[in-house]
Amino acid sequence: MLAASACGLGASTCSGPQSALETAARDADRIATLFWWMTIASALIWAFVIGLAIYAVYATPRGDERRRNRLLIVGGGVVFPTVLLGGLLAYGLTMLSDVLEPSPPGSLRVRVSGEQWWWRVQYLPASGKPVTLANEIRLPVGEAVEFELESPDVIHSFWIPALGGKVDMIPGRMTRLRLHARRTGEFRGACAEYCGTSHALMAFPVVVMPKAEFAAWLDGQARDATEPSEPLLIAGRDAFLANGCGACHAVRGTPADGAVGPDLTHVGSRLSLGAGTTPNDVPAFRSWIARTNELKPGVHMPAFGMLPPTDLGAMAAYLESLK
Ligand code: CUA
Repeated sequence: MLAASACGLGASTCSGPQSALETAARDADRIATLFWWMTIASALIWAFVIGLAIYAVYATPRGDERRRNRLLIVGGGVVFPTVLLGGLLAYGLTMLSDVLEPSPPGSLRVRVSGEQWWWRVQYLPASGKPVTLANEIRLPVGEAVEFELESPDVIHSFWIPALGGKVDMIPGRMTRLRLHARRTGEFRGACAEYCGTSHALMAFPVVVMPKAEFAAWLDGQARDATEPSEPLLIAGRDAFLANGCGACHAVRGTPADGAVGPDLTHVGSRLSLGAGTTPNDVPAFRSWIARTNELKPGVHMPAFGMLPPTDLGAMAAYLESLK
């Protein structure tokens, strides 16, 4: 009943792709269970304290009640909170005791770096070459995945509420998080620590896939970009290279090999652009290239609004074709 009424107050917080209560992974289940027990216990404490306050207002003093008052203070002020909070603490510690344990050896490792304001994502499979991607995370279902979290400059916080707890990304350190998804689906992760102007524009889609599908996806992402064959796309690739985009972005298989910004080798296959900022289609690429700073204030990438519209259109079409 409590759960239902709490959800009734804020329906959007209890379900959806970014809900910590509609869970899809082992640790997230436990965190959600702990949340409900804490909520129930807090509600009980609140009701008890309010009850006492009302009693104190209406109670009629009856002579010398020092013994009774002392009992009330010791019982309600010391014993009740100690037992209840001690019990909750013990429950929480046992329940989450292995949350920080590393994944079993041979697990897939994913190194994520919080940049301003996007995510550098590197897949480090137990066998095979590392694959550097950006702004989207895909995971195999039913398997523990070890996340290695870092940041080159400011503190971010990596959080996929439906899959697990929130872990800070701290410059100069590598923090860890293990996620064990138990069902497939699309979820949303976000930066949960204020990290600068566009902190709120730093999200990422998360897709949990069947294992075979995931392996095929990663295999595809590890490949170089396909050579464009249509004239428009060839013009787009040429404009991309001629305008120096490759100094910051990599498109594997072309001379573009920059590492400052997100890897764009398969950018057209992602579910969003600009780290969860816009949908991924040709018009969105076009506005992103021309009005970068309006779409993501403070972003390091300069806006290229001065380019001729034909170049902008061709570059947008080329990038969207990089599946
Ligand atoms: Cu990154 Cu907030």
